[in-house]
Amino acid sequence: MADPSHKKVILGLTGGIAAYKAAELTRQLTQGGIEVQVVMTESACGFITPATLQALSGKPVFTDMWDARVSDNMAHIELSRGKDAIVVAPATADFIAKLTHGLADDLLSTLCLARECPLLIAPAMNRQMWDNAATRRNIAQLEHDGVVVLGPASGDQACGEVGMGRMLEAVEIAEAVSAFLAPKFLSGKRVLITAGPTFEPIDAVRGITNRSSGKMGYAVARAAIEAGAKVTMVSGPVSLSSPVGAEITRVDTASQMFEAVRRNVARADIFIAVAAVADYRVDKPREHKIKKTDERQLQLKLVPNPDILGWVAARPRAPFCVGFAAESRNLDVYADEKRRRKKVQLMVANRAQEAIGADDNEVMLLDDAGTHRLERAPKEVVARQLIAHIAKLYGATRRKVKA
Ligand code: C5P
Repeated sequence: MADPSHKKVILGLTGGIAAYKAAELTRQLTQGGIEVQVVMTESACGFITPATLQALSGKPVFTDMWDARVSDNMAHIELSRGKDAIVVAPATADFIAKLTHGLADDLLSTLCLARECPLLIAPAMNRQMWDNAATRRNIAQLEHDGVVVLGPASGDQACGEVGMGRMLEAVEIAEAVSAFLAPKFLSGKRVLITAGPTFEPIDAVRGITNRSSGKMGYAVARAAIEAGAKVTMVSGPVSLSSPVGAEITRVDTASQMFEAVRRNVARADIFIAVAAVADYRVDKPREHKIKKTDERQLQLKLVPNPDILGWVAARPRAPFCVGFAAESRNLDVYADEKRRRKKVQLMVANRAQEAIGADDNEVMLLDDAGTHRLERAPKEVVARQLIAHIAKLYGATRRKVKA
C-alpha cells in the first residue's frame, strides 16, 4: 500500500536562540515519516551546529549558496524542487523582513523566493520586536501573500522578559506541519475515538488495568485531525498530551467510557475503538483500602463490562465502526472472528505482546475485501495509513448506501 504520509520538507533555521528547538523539531518530523532537508543561515550556525541537525535528519545540511555538492551549482533552485513545503523555524524578525521584501542574499532566503511549494514560518523574537509596527506590517503582508505563520506563543523569553514572541514548542510545530501536509480525506467528518487502557477499582487505591499506553489511539486521533476530521476522544488514564484540536473526555473505568461514548455517538460519522477496555470489573469495589489479613485467599468477584464497540455497531443508525484486536496468537483468525461477531466494517489486528506500550506497530487490516498488511512503522505513520484506508472504505460505503 502506498504511504500517503511520505512528505519532504526543507527545514530552514535562522539565527535565534530558539534554534535549539529545531533539533527536537527535526526529530519529531522525521519520526512522523517526513523527510527533512535542513538549510541553515550563517547566524543559525552560531546557535546550533550543522552536525547536530545532520545527525538528526540523516542528511547533510546546506548552509552555502555555492555548495559544490549540487552539481549545477543551483542549490537555491535544486533543493526546494520536489519538496512539499519549506518550514522556517525559528524565523527571526530580520529574516521575516527579508521574506516580506523578497530579498535573497543567502541560500535560505533565495530558496524561499525561488520556491514552488508552500512556506510556513515559526517566528521567534523578543516581545518588543514582535510588537514593533514594522514586524506587524511584515507579518500581515506575508499572511496576505499566503505564507502560513505558526505562533508565536507568549511566555518567558531568553532575554529575561515575558511576552509574545516565543517560538512554539517543537511538538506543536511538528503537529501543525503534519496537519498542513496531510491529504484532507475526512474533511468535515465527525470521528469518535476511544483510547488508552481502563482502570477498574478494587478498593480506594488499587485497581485492575493493562499496559496500553494510549499511543496508538492518540496517533489515530492526530491523523484524523490532520485529515480534516472533527475529533472527539474518550481516553482512559494515560500520560500523553491531548492532540491539538481534539475534544477530549478523560475517564477511568469501562462504564465511564461507555457513558461518554453514549453521549457522543449520535453525532459520529465514524467510531474507532482503539481503547484496551477491561473485559471485567470488580463487582463491588471497596470504599476503603483492603487490609492484609491472615486469610490464605482473597477472592474478588468480577462481572463483565459492557462491550462498547459491540453496542455502537448494533445501533440502528450506527456510524462506520472500526475495532482493534490485540491477539497473542492466531492473529488473523481471531481478529476476523471478532470483526464478524461485533459486526464492524474494519478490524485492525496487531500482536498484543509487540504493540501494547510500544512506539512502533505492525498491523493487519481486515475488512470485507480481505486483508492488508501495514509494515512495521512508528505509530504515527501507521495511524495515517489507517485513516487513509478508513476514508476509502467509508467513502465506498456511503456510495453504496446512496446507490
Ligand atoms: O477486547 P476485545 O479484543 O474484544 O477488543 C476488540 C475491540 O473491541 C477493540 O476495538 C476494543 O476497543 C473494543 N472493546 C470495547 N468494549 C469492550 C471490549 C472491547 O469497545 N468492553
